[in-house]
Amino acid sequence: TAPARDRLRIAIQKNGRLAEPARSLLTACGLSWRQSRDKLFCYGESLPVDLLLVRDDDIPGLIADGVCDFGIVGRNELDEQGAARRRIGLPDAYQALRGLNFGQCRLMLAVPEEWEWTGVEQLAGKRIATSYPAILADWLAARGVDAQVVELSGSVEIAPRLGTADLICDLVSSGATLAANQLKPVETLLESEAVLAGPVRTPDDARAGLMAMLLRRLDGVVNVQD
Ligand code: PRP
Ligand code: ZN
Ligand code: MG
Repeated sequence: TAPARDRLRIAIQKNGRLAEPARSLLTACGLSWRQSRDKLFCYGESLPVDLLLVRDDDIPGLIADGVCDFGIVGRNELDEQGAARRRIGLPDAYQALRGLNFGQCRLMLAVPEEWEWTGVEQLAGKRIATSYPAILADWLAARGVDAQVVELSGSVEIAPRLGTADLICDLVSSGATLAANQLKPVETLLESEAVLAGPVRTPDDARAGLMAMLLRRLDGVVNVQD
């Protein structure tokens, strides 16, 4: 177990779609920070709540290891790493505490435009490129489909054209990426948005009160936005 701390740490994305809205949301909750020179760690001024700016993929692990108390991350990333943990027998180590009403997207299967989509049976024996191998493998298994999962960390949408996969499973927001690559969405695996993630068990030190207060403020801010 991680050592006791009296300051709270929140991990958010350093660069990318969730970075700016995450920071604005926390500012609206009354948090402010003294900017550190390297900007990876921001020391909280108004409250003992520090910010850690990281890659979104690292956020679930930072909570699981007790390095951070909260994180703002896509439900897609949280679910993928949760599914991957379960596959190797690890216990759940974090949970989505609140939906935050931004960063909406879908994890979808997309096929070349010329395919005539008739249903999941069509996936038998096909190669599917994705950065979400655990969610995809669970989804395929639940449907009894035997397809090959090809894991790629990025540029998934180019795989069909390169011939390294037949179709893809990736996030779709505006749909522009699919259209630019002559792909069309056919199945939704997951509806995602930014969430506040936290540990399965609340730490029993000074952080517990801070966490409860921040959740109350967050509920006020997110509900007003509706
Ligand atoms: C996702 C996805 C596509 C893009 C789709 O990437 O991998 O590249 O968004 O969005 P669109 O439908 O609006 O074109 P993301 O922004 O999450 O970044 P990443 O691929 O670098 O993780
Ligand atoms: Zn990422
Ligand atoms: Mg992308």
